[in-house]
Amino acid sequence: MPTKHRAKSETARPLPSVAGNQNGIATEEFSHWIKTQLFDDVPIAICVIDRNFQIVEANKTFTETYGSWCGQSCFRVYKNLDNRCEQCGAIRTFADGQTRVREERGKVQDGREMSYLVHMLPIRRSNGEIPYVVEMSTDITHIKQLEKQKLEAERLGAVGETVAGIAHGIKNVLMGLEGGVYVVNSGLRHGDGERFAKGWSMLQENITRISSFVREFLDFAKGRKTTVDNVDPNVPARQVYELFRDSAAQSKIDLRLDVQEDLPEAPLDANGIHTCLVNLVSNAIDACLMSEGQRKFHVTLKTREDDGVLIYEVVDNGRGVDYEISRKIFTSFFSTKGSDKGTGLGLLTTKKIVHQHGGKVSFNSKERQGSTFRIELPRHRLPQPGETTAASEPAETTSGNKRQD
Ligand SMILES: Nc1ncnc2c1ncn2[C@@H]1O[C@H](COP(=O)(O)OP(=O)(O)O)[C@@H](O)[C@H]1O
Ligand SMILES: [Mg+2]
Repeated sequence: MPTKHRAKSETARPLPSVAGNQNGIATEEFSHWIKTQLFDDVPIAICVIDRNFQIVEANKTFTETYGSWCGQSCFRVYKNLDNRCEQCGAIRTFADGQTRVREERGKVQDGREMSYLVHMLPIRRSNGEIPYVVEMSTDITHIKQLEKQKLEAERLGAVGETVAGIAHGIKNVLMGLEGGVYVVNSGLRHGDGERFAKGWSMLQENITRISSFVREFLDFAKGRKTTVDNVDPNVPARQVYELFRDSAAQSKIDLRLDVQEDLPEAPLDANGIHTCLVNLVSNAIDACLMSEGQRKFHVTLKTREDDGVLIYEVVDNGRGVDYEISRKIFTSFFSTKGSDKGTGLGLLTTKKIVHQHGGKVSFNSKERQGSTFRIELPRHRLPQPGETTAASEPAETTSGNKRQD
C-alpha cells in the first residue's frame, strides 16, 4: 500500500464514453477508469488503515472531507482523539474478519460536526491474515437532521394534541362550574333555598368531575411506576365489584362477579389491574345507562385462566360500539360521553397498564346488544415481582366491531 498524501484535485474527470464500443476499446477504457479513477471519484470517503490504526491510503473525497491524513491515525483524523475510540469497530474486523456497518459522529476539517455511516471491510491476504481494513464513510448529517426535525415535529404534535385535550376537558368542567355559580347566585338573590341547593350540587358534581379528570390524566401521563407482587388475581376483581355494586344497583344495573376460585397467585401490579377494571366496569355501566330501551341491564366481571393466560372480562348488555367508534376508542381523549362525563383516557390508561404486564386488551361488541372487554395476560410474559416494567406496543389489528389494542 502506498503511503502518500493525495493532493486535493479540483479537476473534474468525466466518465469515459462507452458508445461505439466495437473493438473492446471502450471497455478497456472503462476498466482503466475503474482502476485509476473510481477510487477518487466516488462521493464516499474511503481510507485504508493498518493494524496500528494508521491511515495508509485514502481517496479524494476522504481528503477533502477530513483534510490531511498522511502518517496519522484514523482516530486523530476522524475525531481528533489521542487514543483509539472506545467502541472501535475496526479492531473487531481485524480480529474476526467480519464486515461491519455503524453510525459515527466526527469532525470534518472545517470543524463542522458530521454524522457518517461507516462500512468496515477486511482486506485479506491469501494466508488469511488481515493486514488492512477499508473504511468507507457516507455523510448522513443531512438525513440525521431531517430525522431529528421529524421526531421534534411528532413530539410537538403529540404535546399539542394532549394540551388541546386537557384544555377541552377543563373547559367542559368550567362551564359546569359557571352554571353552578350562576344558579347559586340566583338562589341567593331571590332567597330561593331550593335553587341554591341545586346550584350547590352542580358545583359539587363539577368539582368531583375535575378531580377525577386530573386523576385519570395523571394515571395516563405520569408513566406510573408498577409495583409488582405475587397476588391472588381475584383480589382486584373483588375490590372493584364491591366498589361499584351499590351504585350499579341504584341505577338498576345488575352487577355480577364470576371468578374462577382456584386461580394461582400471579406477579401483578394489583393497583394497576384495579385501575383497569375500574375503567372497564365504569364504561360498561355507562354503556347500560346510555342505552335506549327498557331491558334489564347487567354487567358481569369475570376472571379465569385459559392455557397459561390470565383473563379478566367485563361483559355488558349496554348500547355496544359501532364500527366507526370501534376504530377510535383506544386513542387519547376519544369519548362519546359528551362534555360532562367522558375524558377519553380510561381505555388508553388500561391499555398502557396491560402492556406493562406484557398482555393485550381487546373487545367484541354488537351495537345495541352489548360488549365484552377482555384483558389477556400470558403468565410467561408477566413481570417479575419487584420489577418495574415499560409499556411495549403490540401491533394493532382490527376486524368489524372487534379490536385489539
Ligand atoms: N362497554 C362499552 N360499551 C360501549 N362503548 C364503550 C364501552 N367501553 C368504552 N366504550 C366507548 O369507548 C369510549 C372511550 O372510553 P374511555 O377511554 O374509557 O373514555 P371515557 O369513558 O372517558 O369516554 C367511550 O366514550 C365509549 O364510546
Ligand atoms: Mg371510561
